[in-house]
Amino acid sequence: MEGDNVSNAFVVRSLDEIRFWSRIMKEHSLFLRLGFRCEDTQLINEANHFYATFESIESRAQAFSAETDPQIIQRFNVEVHTAVSHIWVFKRKVLGLILTCQLIGQNNFPLLLDHTSREAFYFRNRLEQLNAGKLDPLPDAIINENVFFLRIMADHAKFIAHLLDPSERKLVDQAREFSDDFDKLLFQARDLDSMRPQSQTAPLLDQFLDQNRVSVQSLRDFKKTARDLIEACRIKSIIHPLLADHVFREAERFLFIIDMFENALTGKPVTNIEGSH
Ligand SMILES: [Fe+2]
Ligand SMILES: [Fe+2]
Repeated sequence: MEGDNVSNAFVVRSLDEIRFWSRIMKEHSLFLRLGFRCEDTQLINEANHFYATFESIESRAQAFSAETDPQIIQRFNVEVHTAVSHIWVFKRKVLGLILTCQLIGQNNFPLLLDHTSREAFYFRNRLEQLNAGKLDPLPDAIINENVFFLRIMADHAKFIAHLLDPSERKLVDQAREFSDDFDKLLFQARDLDSMRPQSQTAPLLDQFLDQNRVSVQSLRDFKKTARDLIEACRIKSIIHPLLADHVFREAERFLFIIDMFENALTGKPVTNIEGSH
């Protein structure tokens, strides 16, 4: 019976990660494609190929359920892992082309390539951990996930600041403030990381989560407002509405993870992780 619960938890966690991140990978393919020059047909084809791959993974993940045989999910995880490795290589290749000025005039920031490749690396690592049955112990997971996501949030604030029209002065200022705030939080997280394992006390980790949550909530609200304004064509920017929604969903994901850690630290029951979409 206990074995059943463990395998059920493995299936539920795997599907939760794949449903969230395969959609993210699919959207990265779209954003990268939109930034390429029209003569870069090879890169455009590769991006389209990744879009189709992750779209298919996404719909297959939706078709599985908590009752699916864990062995099927184990094989699915391996297959998704391969696809994620390939998109990681693609993103790093494009980063190399941009940094050596071989794609003059294309519109993707180098930091966007690095950022989306870090997200792919994170996803790939999570699939490896799930299949190996080796998730980080809670105190390590808390620091690792926060270091990862705080940097992601700091990058988002920078992207927003740079993609808003320069005439949207108030919004650009707000985005820059978020960028500074998250840079500071990231440095604090790295300090806590370097003070491991002595820093991994319950009160310090709890305070760390509380402080990060406050900032992520306000960034999440800012992204939501920006998304709504962009969708309603009320502000000037070169932000695709889907990109605005994409970064909003990533903030929601971080908040969900913070809450899951908080519950685990304080011994409260963990809410259903399938409710995170
Ligand atoms: Fe992303
Ligand atoms: Fe992101």
